[in-house]
Amino acid sequence: MPRSVSKIGGVSLLLGAGFAAAQATGTISGLGPSAYTVPGVFPTSVFQSYYNDPTATTAEPQPVISDPVTHKTYPYWLTNPETIPQVDAWEPHPLPPTASSGQLLEYAVQQIASIAANPIFGNDTCAQCTAALEVAKFLALAAPEQGPSLAVKLCEYFDYADDCETEYGIFSLGSPITQVVAFADVGGYDGQPKPNPLPPPRQATGERLKVLHMSDLHIDPRYTVGSEANCSDYLCCRPGVYNKQSPNTTVLPAPMYGAYYCDAPLSLILAALDSVPVLTGTEDTGFDFSLYTGDLVSHDNENELSREYTLYSETILYNLLKQKINSGPVYAVLGNHDTYNEAQNAPYNLTPSLTGQFNWDYDHLASLWELNGWIDSGVAQQARTHYAAYSVERSDGLRIITLNTDFWYKANYYNYINLAGSDNSGMLRFLTDELQAAEDAGDRVWILGHVLSGWDGTNPLDNPTNLFYQIVDRYSPHVIANIFFGHTHEDQLSIFYANNATNISAENALAVSWIMPSVTPLTNLNSGFRMYEVDSGTFEVLDSYTWYADVNSFSSLEGQTEFGPSYHFEYSTREAYGGNITWGPNDPLNATWWHLVTESMEANTTLVELFNTYQGKSSVRSPPCTGECATAKICYLRSGSASIAQQNCPTGYGSVQ
Ligand SMILES: *[C@@H]1O[C@H](CO)[C@@H](O)[C@H](O)[C@H]1NC(C)=O
Ligand SMILES: *[C@@H]1O[C@H](CO)[C@@H](O)[C@H](O)[C@H]1NC(C)=O
Ligand SMILES: *[C@@H]1O[C@H](CO)[C@@H](O)[C@H](O)[C@H]1NC(C)=O
Ligand SMILES: *[C@@H]1O[C@H](CO)[C@@H](O)[C@H](O)[C@H]1NC(C)=O
Ligand SMILES: *[C@@H]1O[C@H](CO)[C@@H](O)[C@H](O)[C@H]1NC(C)=O
Ligand SMILES: *[C@@H]1O[C@H](CO)[C@@H](O)[C@H](O)[C@H]1NC(C)=O
Ligand SMILES: *[C@@H]1O[C@H](CO)[C@@H](O)[C@H](O)[C@H]1NC(C)=O
Ligand SMILES: *[C@@H]1O[C@H](CO)[C@@H](O)[C@H](O)[C@H]1NC(C)=O
Repeated sequence: MPRSVSKIGGVSLLLGAGFAAAQATGTISGLGPSAYTVPGVFPTSVFQSYYNDPTATTAEPQPVISDPVTHKTYPYWLTNPETIPQVDAWEPHPLPPTASSGQLLEYAVQQIASIAANPIFGNDTCAQCTAALEVAKFLALAAPEQGPSLAVKLCEYFDYADDCETEYGIFSLGSPITQVVAFADVGGYDGQPKPNPLPPPRQATGERLKVLHMSDLHIDPRYTVGSEANCSDYLCCRPGVYNKQSPNTTVLPAPMYGAYYCDAPLSLILAALDSVPVLTGTEDTGFDFSLYTGDLVSHDNENELSREYTLYSETILYNLLKQKINSGPVYAVLGNHDTYNEAQNAPYNLTPSLTGQFNWDYDHLASLWELNGWIDSGVAQQARTHYAAYSVERSDGLRIITLNTDFWYKANYYNYINLAGSDNSGMLRFLTDELQAAEDAGDRVWILGHVLSGWDGTNPLDNPTNLFYQIVDRYSPHVIANIFFGHTHEDQLSIFYANNATNISAENALAVSWIMPSVTPLTNLNSGFRMYEVDSGTFEVLDSYTWYADVNSFSSLEGQTEFGPSYHFEYSTREAYGGNITWGPNDPLNATWWHLVTESMEANTTLVELFNTYQGKSSVRSPPCTGECATAKICYLRSGSASIAQQNCPTGYGSVQ
């Protein structure tokens, strides 16, 4: 409460004295004095009352002011220097009215239309798209019921489809699109579209690197020479197996170097490894680097396998590769047979007690690769914590990104937890992170895995390989130079096209995955290996040379020790398939070329028969391929995901076994 002057004893008495104290000095004609000094005592009569003692000389007098207009009295705290308010929280700060949900939609459409037309973005469709996504995101959060309507209106505005309501309305894609926009980090990584135009391509140097590719060694350390090699129940060339037609007499005694129903004995693996430097002409130069696309362990029945047996096979084979291919790193991946139980790998997001159940294997593989000097300790640590997958940033502008493809393999039971998901393990997220880093750095990438993503589509799951296909589209051809798989033991390949292969043509071909045939003859196949010539600037394949040994001849090597098996040159890919394609001598065997090969195959089925022969490494046991088989083969060559194969191709012609 304000205090009135009259209540302050003694203060009023001073009033007259105050005025009396005013002094004037001198006079100037027609004016007042030349100077005037006010009294030192505050003229308390000016106001009726004061909040403090106006005569006190230690503080500013605080008169009580009433507003004649509002009839309010201004409170003491407003001017009291000890209580200066730091926030004006008691007065209105006007904001625009809450827009209705319908208005929000209308404004979002307007904003996106004006972003599309705004010259400030120039030709930067990426910035434009990100800005538009930001608008859409806030609509999806503030008025989610309007998300599908926005999708429909934008579809109409930009003329995306003939019937936008049917495609993007609430009863079709409107709901998932709204959810994704609401939750995605559209201003960050999630909103990064494919660059347009693509960054300038890396320049070819004309220098050719030599790269060895081997796969599916499948050593059988339990191989038993003389046992039944033509048994009725796998795995043959083992003690106790027999042919049901001839249970007491061995039909085909297992030869020392291997047989068609058997995995590779150590002697066959050594024969292959010893032939590699001689046949590839690398005895003096060595390889720049090598690829090993997985599978070391033999095809025993589950009951005969164990962790110990898996670790043994990993140890002996990586030791042999180190001894025999001792030039350049070998980039190796985990195959479905390189775990126990076979093909099983659990995602890290199971309950904590089950999370690390396969770490024994990842640790062992990573440590072997590191001890062999193929990857450094940082990369090995990444492999230990990424399901044995890793990414190597080489100093020459190539990145090797490996995958644990058991996470899209049908035989890994853990994939059936949340089958609707595309990336339960996080493996494909790892891939996109690494690809984005490569794009940002202007590097090229080779992706290495074991289980193929496409071909006839019988091995991988639909959802993860659909996602993989989209990732390949996003990062090809400017980042991904090549993809390499193994697993089928057969010489195959898949082409990837833009827009999920909705228009299969040479113009839309983006990438290829080379599927490497095996060293093991299992089943009905010859044994083989391959070398690529690769441009050291673009990391594109300029040619691919494949060698094989005729397993059918191995019985004839019995009973003597002068000769082991012979590996033979089988074919140059460029020469075999490129005869009718106009292509410069240093133009790469890329997706465009491979698509033209499939067109040549359509015009000349002799080329498909040739492909069929090479598919089994020229095995006498491969069945011929004509009629619907030829159509199917061309179709598999054009299928990079399981779904595309299922959608487009006749079934039943994938294998020559
Ligand atoms: C946009 O692209 C066109 C055609 O390529 C070009 O003529 C124009 O200068 C570009 N505009 C800006 C702002 O970059
Ligand atoms: C293998 O055994 C089957 C009968 O089970 C027989 O038809 C076939 O001719 C045998 N093949 C060889 C190479 O011995
Ligand atoms: C195989 O040997 C068993 C035991 O000696 C005999 O009972 C059986 O008749 C023989 N089978 C054939 C097909 O000779
Ligand atoms: C497919 O792509 C080719 C090459 O880009 C183009 O000429 C053709 O019109 C496209 N076909 C369809 C049906 O879109
Ligand atoms: C493949 O190489 C040819 C010739 O150099 C080139 O014109 C084409 O664009 C390349 N295709 C891809 C998918 O990189
Ligand atoms: C070879 O290519 C030409 C066009 O360059 C085409 O007309 C012809 O059918 C092709 N022949 C074969 C057998 O691929
Ligand atoms: C078809 O391809 C085979 C294998 O390359 C070749 O020998 C033959 O001349 C081709 N036929 C035609 C008509 O081009
Ligand atoms: C790609 O095409 C396949 C086959 O038609 C289809 O199953 C799949 O859903 C498509 N993927 C996307 C992302 O559209």
